[in-house]
Amino acid sequence: MIERQLTRFNRLELLGAPTPLEKARRLSEWAGREIHLKRDDLTPLALGGNKLRKLEYLAADALARGADTLVTAGAIQSNHVRQTAALAARLGLGCVALLENPIGTDSASYLENGNRLLLDLFDARVELVDNLDNADEQLQALAVRLHASGRKPYLVPIGGSNALGALGYVRAGLELAGQIERSGQRFAGVVLASGSAGTHAGLALALAERLPELPVIGITVSRSEDAQKPKVQALAERTAELLQVRVPDAFNVHLWDEYYAPRYGEANAGGLAAIRLLASQEGVLLDPVYTGKAMAGLLDGIARQRFDDGPLIFLHTGGAPALFAYPDVCKR
Ligand SMILES: Cc1ncc(COP(=O)(O)O)c(C=O)c1O
Repeated sequence: MIERQLTRFNRLELLGAPTPLEKARRLSEWAGREIHLKRDDLTPLALGGNKLRKLEYLAADALARGADTLVTAGAIQSNHVRQTAALAARLGLGCVALLENPIGTDSASYLENGNRLLLDLFDARVELVDNLDNADEQLQALAVRLHASGRKPYLVPIGGSNALGALGYVRAGLELAGQIERSGQRFAGVVLASGSAGTHAGLALALAERLPELPVIGITVSRSEDAQKPKVQALAERTAELLQVRVPDAFNVHLWDEYYAPRYGEANAGGLAAIRLLASQEGVLLDPVYTGKAMAGLLDGIARQRFDDGPLIFLHTGGAPALFAYPDVCKR
């Protein structure tokens, strides 16, 4: 049902083949549990990551509306802004981004390297703001200014997380369900970082229909479970509405919120240990803001026996360019 409805939406075909689902052999031995990585860090644009899937739908909409500029917002080290700016470059569109410094750092690496450095390469125009507490209004105001100067802006919400963007992860969920079914294995859970919630909402919606027994567990990167749950739930409902399907009965928002402290964008010991572990055991790069913390949650979940028996899937959503903004990551 969801699959059929999804074909009604315009999509730029940027992804090519499905991203790999691969067993992390040495990590599995280390953890005493089979762990597979769904490699959305390998999407084929500007160092990869989860946003390209959302942008396939959002940018198709922008082009259909005759936009000439993608407008978005995020942290100075936002992976989302990097991928949006790269796609704008590829499509011959402008990109203007509002950026905040969520950890109030004056570290030159954070302010100039990593994702921020790449924004200059993609010719994005950047405006620094004190915060993005009212991001939708701030983006609207920017769009009004751009209009007045003759541009045709298209607003991409923070993280690409509206219902249209979440379709990218509905599609990813169907892709993953196919890979799981073909593997013949019975997985005990899928773990991913849950931030602006489009990845979590879209993936969980599709998997609830295709594999209703499979729990999808979001590790929060910026909020408590109480604050994150209504965001994921509401976005899943809006996405189902856009698709004109019912939210499947099996849909359930599972969140673990013990791994993001002290706050969004600030590295913690568990996340850094997970980054070093994946690098040294698998040659795979995680990041300090999202995937390091999410992997720390997965490993702690194994240690605390929070999963049923069976192999686990970690959705690797990318983020490694931010490593260069956090050089302390290598200090012990
Ligand atoms: C590397 C990485 N992982 C996970 C996420 C979280 O995805 P979402 O914002 O859809 O919850 C992001 C969002 O920016 C990200 O950059």
